[in-house]
Amino acid sequence: MSAMATVRAHAPGRVNLIGDHTDYTGGLVLPMAIEWGTTVEVERGADRVELRSSAKQQPALIDLDVADPAAVEPAWARYVAGVVAVLRPRTGATGTVQTTLPVGAGLSSSASLEVAVALALGFEGTELELALACQEAEHLASGVPCGIMDQLASAAGVEGSALLIDCTSLVVTPVPVPDAVEVVVVDSGVSRTLAGSAYAERRAECEAAAQLLGPLREASLADVESLEDHVLRRRARHVVSENGRVLGFAELLAAGDVAAAGALMAASHASLRDDMEVSTPALDRLVGELSTTPGVYGARLTGAGFGGCVVALADPSSPVRGWRLHPSGGATVG
Ligand code: GLA
Repeated sequence: MSAMATVRAHAPGRVNLIGDHTDYTGGLVLPMAIEWGTTVEVERGADRVELRSSAKQQPALIDLDVADPAAVEPAWARYVAGVVAVLRPRTGATGTVQTTLPVGAGLSSSASLEVAVALALGFEGTELELALACQEAEHLASGVPCGIMDQLASAAGVEGSALLIDCTSLVVTPVPVPDAVEVVVVDSGVSRTLAGSAYAERRAECEAAAQLLGPLREASLADVESLEDHVLRRRARHVVSENGRVLGFAELLAAGDVAAAGALMAASHASLRDDMEVSTPALDRLVGELSTTPGVYGARLTGAGFGGCVVALADPSSPVRGWRLHPSGGATVG
């Protein structure tokens, strides 16, 4: 790419239909990229990365040899620094960031920023390589040991389809979302400030269970019951049962049986609440309200939990209030 060429990269956010707290165990997830996302427009060729965001007062000013992305100020610039630290581009870039995503609502605004920045900085590789680089950037920026779901959904989104991702093989299979159903996202408005440490704790518990049982992906519910530690048993039970629900949901969606798919969402929420213990009273209340709203087939918390959003599957005629989002294509650069 020639110096000072203008590059425009766009990366979507995502909502996860089912399969939470499974990606970092090598499990199954079913997110979809959405029509909201982050656009980064730059001229390349400077000796550092300088980005101004329409939503933030302070710019991101990142040296190409940035050593500790997590220490960068302002906080949003850490994600830019994380990408710079992973990609180590030889030339910098100057430009702007614009987002249509609500920040901190659990629609992966940080993953979409990372993916858009990586493409704007000239990343060349497969969608999977892009997602892996941005996952590493997120680890460096936030210290949260996230899985691959958010970055891969953003990189590899498919218009009209959710993505069945096998987080062991990293194979992505599009699953068309029927036109006869709406994906509705409702923000609980609850802050996710505790999410980082509690998330890392859940991941460590799943790893401890896997030390005893072997890969949770291959464990059965009977294996899980053999765990003596009741916390590890609950965490593993969530993962093993959730993997089963993801497969069931994908099949039901493909068959157009949205009512049965909705029932699996309700079961997923109960498991995230009782076994994974990542729900909050506000999320539980919202899911309860949605489940009695006419035309709603099912609802569950989506993403890491501890606040953020609830996702529902609803009939288009349902009076349910929320963001009606559509499965969208993945990141682009031009
Ligand atoms: C966050 C992480 C993902 C995933 C979800 C929970 O969004 O970034 O990797 O673990 O939580 O499913």
